Amino acid sequence: MDLIVFNTKNEANVYVAGLIVQEINKNAFLTLGLATGETPKGIYNDLIKRYRENKVSFKNITTFNLDEYIGLHPESPDSYHFYMQEKLFNHIDCPKENIHIPNGCAEDLNNECENYEKLIEESGGIELQLLGIGINGHIGFNEPGTAFDTHTHITKLAPSTIEANTPLLVEEKKLPSHALSMGLKTIRQAKKIILVAFGKQKADAIQRLLNGEVSEGFPASILKRHSDIKIVIDSELNNEL
Ligand code: GLP
Repeated sequence: MDLIVFNTKNEANVYVAGLIVQEINKNAFLTLGLATGETPKGIYNDLIKRYRENKVSFKNITTFNLDEYIGLHPESPDSYHFYMQEKLFNHIDCPKENIHIPNGCAEDLNNECENYEKLIEESGGIELQLLGIGINGHIGFNEPGTAFDTHTHITKLAPSTIEANTPLLVEEKKLPSHALSMGLKTIRQAKKIILVAFGKQKADAIQRLLNGEVSEGFPASILKRHSDIKIVIDSELNNEL
């Protein structure tokens, strides 16, 4: 695992966006795995900027998002569908049919999970996966205790995740208790992974990722078995390590 430290979040965002653009410019038909949450917002801003400057086109890429809340419609400002439209897709040239986000309102959620996994496979697999990390070590919505061999599945949110994400709600009164998430196996199968974490609140999780053992009690630890992973952090986090 390569640990890369930047003085500021902004420098880290520019670096990560640069890596993504580099991959797209090497392979215009790239399959990209995307994340939501507070962390990637600046990366998406920088991608939009580069698109406006004609430095990259997203018209042939395919995207797969990590997760979505169960029960939130794509139009809900609290859904990850809405987030992705607002923060990235409304501003770039990625065709709608190339964008994949699990449907948390599907009638048959198990079927939705199976289909999602099949679509990833049919696309040739994720070449570059962008990840954040929860304070409890979750990646996607794979909470502590999730088996390492899981594919896309229904997951119950941990109390600490509910606590961390509830203040971000815009319209919903209550955070959904469950979500659909790519599994740990799905994530591990990505050819390259970039995990980004900012701020001192993520220091314990990154410390454990770097120095702890590989265990299903700490989902991100599966990444220690991956051969091409970069962990990008800011100095505020690094100072606490
Ligand atoms: C959320 C998402 C994850 C995200 C993580 C960190 O709950 N399900 O995909 O990476 O938790 O979020 P943030 O970047 O807001 O700290």
